[in-house]
Amino acid sequence: MEKEKHILITGVAGFIGSNLLDYLIDETNWKITGIDNLSTGNLQNIQHHLQNNRFSFENKSCKDLLSLKPYSVIFHLAALPRIQPSFNSINEHLNANLIQATHLLELMIKEQHYPRLIYSGSSAAYGTPTQIPTPETERIDCLSPYAFQKYEFEKYLELIATRYPIDFVTLRYFNPYGNRSFNPKNSFNAYSSVVGIFLNKREKGEVLLVTGDGSQKRDFVHVLDLAKANYLSAIHPVKLNTMFNVGFGETLSILELAKLISPNNIKFIDKREGEADITFADTTKIKKILNWKPGKSIKTYIKENA
Ligand SMILES: NC(=O)c1ccc[n+]([C@@H]2O[C@H](COP(=O)([O-])OP(=O)(O)OC[C@H]3O[C@@H](n4cnc5c(N)ncnc54)[C@H](O)[C@@H]3O)[C@@H](O)[C@H]2O)c1
Repeated sequence: MEKEKHILITGVAGFIGSNLLDYLIDETNWKITGIDNLSTGNLQNIQHHLQNNRFSFENKSCKDLLSLKPYSVIFHLAALPRIQPSFNSINEHLNANLIQATHLLELMIKEQHYPRLIYSGSSAAYGTPTQIPTPETERIDCLSPYAFQKYEFEKYLELIATRYPIDFVTLRYFNPYGNRSFNPKNSFNAYSSVVGIFLNKREKGEVLLVTGDGSQKRDFVHVLDLAKANYLSAIHPVKLNTMFNVGFGETLSILELAKLISPNNIKFIDKREGEADITFADTTKIKKILNWKPGKSIKTYIKENA
């Protein structure tokens, strides 16, 4: 067990935040505060921890945080992580994805207290990559306001670190799936993880809608592998101030995925703009520096959930 820390998770009631909470409750003895404004999150995701005296929940936005002094690590997950809606309500997404995050930097500077900030970034920053698999050195090609906003905060971290002793790690997630990726109360569900959507459709006996010809490939990574990457970033003994890809390191096309889940109930619909043709992580860096490796593959997960 690690030394006791007090850590903060923003966006704790979301898909990845609630899985990170599960992971940290199981794997550490840390005291955990979680905040969430419940804009897309769901209290049910963290219900099972609300009585745990190591965990406290506050229903608030990042911008309502007045001090970061109690914390030695901040896992920043709060965001509106939806590609298509970010084209329409630009400012709402800009606020959630960037302004709320820069508030954390301002607090650090004001208090001269620099807890390690582990930022949930996105592989959306690579757009349609030129290198397959894609290393962290790939050029940036944001295809949506969401991708740009997520990437912009990465740049803020780098810029502010030239002047202040910021300690950060950016984790560029590829395509997460797992428990709670589909939230029935979330009106943005049409844009959430395709794995969760397809499994939900199969459960209801509904047709799986495949966009375009389904040849677009994704690197699906299990949410508990993301949680582990967050944990390893938090306990790394030295300041890193860098970014890591977090993907499984293999791809599956959307059509292959649909066939694995519900082979006889598939319909093709129009391709959506702003989405990459392929995501495929080169994970050499995170394996080498954080000693991270992924667990189960998407195919195993689907077999287990058949
Ligand atoms: N799910 C993915 O496919 C994916 C891929 C790459 C990166 N990410 C990143 O991972 C993080 C978590 O994503 P997720 O899939 O769990 O999404 P989610 O929508 O399930 O969780 C985000 C949580 O943040 C909360 N939130 C939003 N704005 C807030 C604010 N201002 N203050 C406090 N809470 C706020 C929401 O209520 C929600 O509970 C995000 O930063 C996202 O950009 C997700």
